[in-house]
Amino acid sequence: MKNLIFSKMPEKEQKLLIEAEKAMGFAYNPYSGFSVGAALMTFDGKIVSASNYENAAYGPCVCAERSALVKANSEGLRKFSKIAIIGKGKNGPTAGIVAPCGICRQMIFEASQISNKDIMVIMSNTEMTTIIGAKISELLPFAFGPKDLGIDVNHF
Ligand code: THU
Repeated sequence: MKNLIFSKMPEKEQKLLIEAEKAMGFAYNPYSGFSVGAALMTFDGKIVSASNYENAAYGPCVCAERSALVKANSEGLRKFSKIAIIGKGKNGPTAGIVAPCGICRQMIFEASQISNKDIMVIMSNTEMTTIIGAKISELLPFAFGPKDLGIDVNHF
């Protein structure tokens, strides 16, 4: 886990975070008012971004991270090196970073197994003044995954 400074991040990572920020602007969040944007990066630098999408029944709410993973898969992209996440509160900017929820960590872990890569998760506050980078294995230690079922998803 490391603290990152926007101006010192590689250009590719800056771009990824900016794409996440743009997607955050499309959040459908009439219930929580909380906006989240997530952007995935493939190994060849393609970016797929998405926002959270809420529902009156609450249970069906889908986080930005999971939206991005499903959207990317639907576009034929399933292997990623990084994901950037940024959020904004109902009443303004978040002081701290937005970290992925437990379900999203599990989904990012699955993507890490498909990608054969310990995906870097870049988490930012609204103003990009506090940014933390952590590997998915740090965010979800002792993860349950495809290997526990004897399945090699890297070749799926
Ligand atoms: N949310 C995300 O999209 N990603 C996260 O990492 C945390 C939470 C969304 C779900 C819901 O629409 C809103 O933020 C409040 O929980």
